[in-house]
Amino acid sequence: MALRGMGVLLILWVTEGSMRDDDFPFYDLGTIPAWRDLRSLRGTQSQDQFDKEKYHKQLKELDVQSLYESISRLMKDSKAFWPADGPQDGDVASYAGLFERLAWHCSGTFRLVNGTAAGGCEGARQRHWPENEWRDNSNLDKARGLLGQVKHEFGSQISWSDLLTFAGTTAIKASGGPAKKFCFGRVDDVNGKRSIPLGVEGVKECLGNKFCKSDFECPVAFRWPEQDEADHARCNLTQPHHRLQASHSVGLIYVYPEGPELKSSAKGYSAKQVHNRSPRFSALEVRDTFKERMGWTDRETVALIGGGHTMGRTHGNCNLTGTKWASHPYNEVGPFFEAQAGALRGPTDGTCGTGASAGLAQNTVSSGFEGPWTRTPSQWNYDFFDAMLTEEWEPVKSPFGADQWRTKSRHSTYASTMRLTADLSLVNDETYAAIAREYAADHAKFDSDFADAWYKLVHRSEDNPNENDLESKFGVCTRFEFVK
Ligand code: HEM
Ligand SMILES: *[C@@H]1O[C@H](CO)[C@@H](O)[C@H](O)[C@H]1NC(C)=O
Ligand SMILES: *[C@@H]1O[C@H](CO)[C@@H](O)[C@H](O)[C@H]1NC(C)=O
Ligand SMILES: *[C@@H]1O[C@H](CO)[C@@H](O)[C@H](O)[C@H]1NC(C)=O
Repeated sequence: MALRGMGVLLILWVTEGSMRDDDFPFYDLGTIPAWRDLRSLRGTQSQDQFDKEKYHKQLKELDVQSLYESISRLMKDSKAFWPADGPQDGDVASYAGLFERLAWHCSGTFRLVNGTAAGGCEGARQRHWPENEWRDNSNLDKARGLLGQVKHEFGSQISWSDLLTFAGTTAIKASGGPAKKFCFGRVDDVNGKRSIPLGVEGVKECLGNKFCKSDFECPVAFRWPEQDEADHARCNLTQPHHRLQASHSVGLIYVYPEGPELKSSAKGYSAKQVHNRSPRFSALEVRDTFKERMGWTDRETVALIGGGHTMGRTHGNCNLTGTKWASHPYNEVGPFFEAQAGALRGPTDGTCGTGASAGLAQNTVSSGFEGPWTRTPSQWNYDFFDAMLTEEWEPVKSPFGADQWRTKSRHSTYASTMRLTADLSLVNDETYAAIAREYAADHAKFDSDFADAWYKLVHRSEDNPNENDLESKFGVCTRFEFVK
């Protein structure tokens, strides 16, 4: 039976262990059922506290190399219950992109607003309600479930928050990408309470319980004068309210990837195009989120997005029009939503592929966009900026129906790759574009800047807001000397 998506009322009634162990052996380690979280939040169920002192003492004994090897082995070991990407793009099977996105979404909740830090991966609240229900986190339950194998192997030697961040870093390094240093010491929270101010989606009052109150509604909705009136409204981008959420909506913790749609009277609008999404306006949203809320410089923003979208792909290779899944919003039973017990994953009723691959691999729908950004999504490379600067990009729709872009030349070496409007914003904003050109011309500089920004990304959090806090407090770091 389907659960999470059906709202809190049902969540409370659902029993645990709905993903069968033989289907996905360590799934239940990675994601806490919402009913258990809500009980914990209401104080009706005590939780095992995380023993910080013991953990930090134990860390000195952690065999970092064997942890790295465990993760990199798992990364290349495609499992039938959630097959790794790569083959559909002509590359080797690898969970690298998935693990990298996992670490980014866990860490990307970090906010610096009014000089105060909030969020970050420490606490590993992505395993808990409300973060595990955010639209942006769809299918990351599968990534955590895969890493459950490593958690099972290492037990209390590694916290979930150290594991999630280290797995993303290992994914980059073991795929030939840059990583300079990683420090351990993050402790786990017992529930998702500290993520509530970051946004609760789809649950307005949560049965009147004070913990479930959401401030997801925009106090001020804003559209540019050039923007289509029918386009999704968004929170006021000037941030008079200094919100902890992203510029568009709560479930999208970062940026709306499709970008704003122009209205027909706007300059540059073309009725012949299948969409008129604006990379130029999208740049303003990217900056608003990354600079104003997350505390990143423009240079760090370009490096992070470029490095992030070097690996992996988007998932939306399934048209749901006319099926029962089409009418379900993100937080109901449907392909957006991660923990669909019973259905296990994706629409497995034959809507998206049939037989053994129904809802899996090339038939997965996560965001609804479709395709890789680069020609080798399992291997570190420099296609992201190179292709964006040398090719002309034209608007297209994914099979799912999402607005995205492909190379205008159908004979280009990059013809099989895609871009989001938010990606193209990086070459349609003067400041961003200058940095993108610098990175395309100097790959070593790009590698170095990305590694620095990634380090900062996975090390800052509410309790340890400075990037060097973990190192100075616990001193358990690696520089990956053991990687050949
Ligand atoms: C403007 C900011 C960003 C937007 C709008 C964005 C959007 C997206 C979307 C829509 C997907 C596809 C998800 C799916 O369908 O599976 C995706 C995947 C991914 N993103 Fe981003 N992203 C942004 C920034 C970043 C950053 C900063 C990083 C890392 C530093 C990153 C790393 C990744 C990775 C590795 C994947 C591939 C996941 C996989 O292969 O399964 N993204 N992103
Ligand atoms: C944002 O909201 C404030 C009022 O809270 C308003 O003064 C301002 O003009 C709005 N900004 C935009 C860009 O609409
Ligand atoms: C930041 O400060 C403003 C103005 O004092 C306040 O309205 C807002 O709630 C604060 N935001 C956060 C997240 O604390
Ligand atoms: C999805 O399927 C519907 C109905 O078959 C069709 O009208 C629509 O064009 C398809 N959309 C895409 C993006 O292929």
